[in-house]
Amino acid sequence: MADLIGLDQAEAMTTEEVHDLYRRFVSRSQVSLIGSFGFGRDLVDHAEGAWIHLRDGRRVLDFTGGVGVLSHGHNHPRVLAARRRFQEARRMEVHKNYFSPYVAALSHNLAQLLPGDLNISYFPNSGAEAVEGAVKLAYKYHRGRRGTVLHTDIAFHGKLLGAGSLTASPEVHFPYPRIPGTDAFAYDDLESFRLALERHTDSAGDCDVYAVVLEPFSASSLRECSGAFLREVRRVCTELDIVLIFDEVYTGWGKTGALFHFMHHRGLVPDVVTTSKSFGGGKSSISGYIAREPVFRAAYDNLSDATLHSTTYYGFGEETATALEAVAVAVEEDFPARARELGERLEKGLAGVAARHPRLVREVKGRGALHGVFLTPGPALPAGLRERLPSAMARDPQAVSKLLTGAVIAALYRDHGILTFFGSNRLIALIVSPPLVTEPDEADLFVDALDEVLSRGATRLLAGFVREKVAG
Ligand SMILES: Cc1ncc(COP(=O)(O)O)c(C=O)c1O
Repeated sequence: MADLIGLDQAEAMTTEEVHDLYRRFVSRSQVSLIGSFGFGRDLVDHAEGAWIHLRDGRRVLDFTGGVGVLSHGHNHPRVLAARRRFQEARRMEVHKNYFSPYVAALSHNLAQLLPGDLNISYFPNSGAEAVEGAVKLAYKYHRGRRGTVLHTDIAFHGKLLGAGSLTASPEVHFPYPRIPGTDAFAYDDLESFRLALERHTDSAGDCDVYAVVLEPFSASSLRECSGAFLREVRRVCTELDIVLIFDEVYTGWGKTGALFHFMHHRGLVPDVVTTSKSFGGGKSSISGYIAREPVFRAAYDNLSDATLHSTTYYGFGEETATALEAVAVAVEEDFPARARELGERLEKGLAGVAARHPRLVREVKGRGALHGVFLTPGPALPAGLRERLPSAMARDPQAVSKLLTGAVIAALYRDHGILTFFGSNRLIALIVSPPLVTEPDEADLFVDALDEVLSRGATRLLAGFVREKVAG
């Protein structure tokens, strides 16, 4: 008999045992990367709302928001109840022959909540799958007669081969093969957008672009497109019959203070919008694209193409039942208003922190419950520290920014029990992205903790962190 670890044994493992199995069966470098932070050496017992409860009884305020997944907080009671109800009634997961009432209701509700004729939905599991589904839809809409898809120069759309081909963030830095016909324009830059279109328009005036994919708010850069930019892109896409895809995988369900970020701009409607992360209420891995009805019908609404694009797990029972409840919670608890309220508190607090630490904080920006603190790394690492770094890290031009932001993250966790993470795109930012169930007083806790940590100064923070990492 194989020597298998059961659930009881797995839940009783020590940190050392978990690290050992990760080293042998998952990834050694993950253990050295994350294991040198305090949180990499702790194990979680359970989590509720904005709080994580550790095995040793300590509790940690989760300001990562689960990297977009946890707007409802951990284990929202209504989301748990919906899942229990589904399980206890022994509902059916795989709806391939029978129709799913959950897919039907969820698609209906999305059509109710989104503007215009964004009426037709498809529900795979990850953000990248939703983006790729949307791009394939656009390609099919043009019956394969156009060959170019445009994305922005700071785009992050995921790490699968297709979505990775549309990603320009240095987060995806290895030159994997790309889907054909991609080109980039500068984010929020109309001139650059027009030039990109020109590059793909022939002398007869025929445009080869089938889709434009962009994040109206870039969660990895904390930048947003102006209303004027978005409206002009919409106008041009309509004129040239280009399918306009807004990627709201991160920003959907209230995060920046509107149900979807593009809804800050009244009357603006993309041809397709993607969603994921908090769409699953922090429990189910579900994503989706929602397409304008004429675009979807032209692409797929005939018998021979009805199953041209699908995945095994799309529209699974418990995933869609959970999303149905997660969406109801986001609407009934008014997540956009919660994000705006948290945003006001955070903006005020972070502006104060920036004013008190002008040499360390270069910029604070963001919207609603999604902000970034960009630190000024200073000219170089303090003398004697560079030699102590692993060689790959010492060669990285972003090394000082990463180390300084990492040092702040480590200190917030170790000394204040607050979990944060950093976002990397062109620049490195400490991401401030609390769940939307965070209380305003808890936002103040974070601001005070950040203030204290930054008051230690860059040199002390860096020296302590490098010492800890090298020792770890
Ligand atoms: C805007 C955006 N699009 C797509 C993705 C990819 O989602 P996934 O990691 O679920 O494939 C992400 C993930 O962070 C994202 O932020």
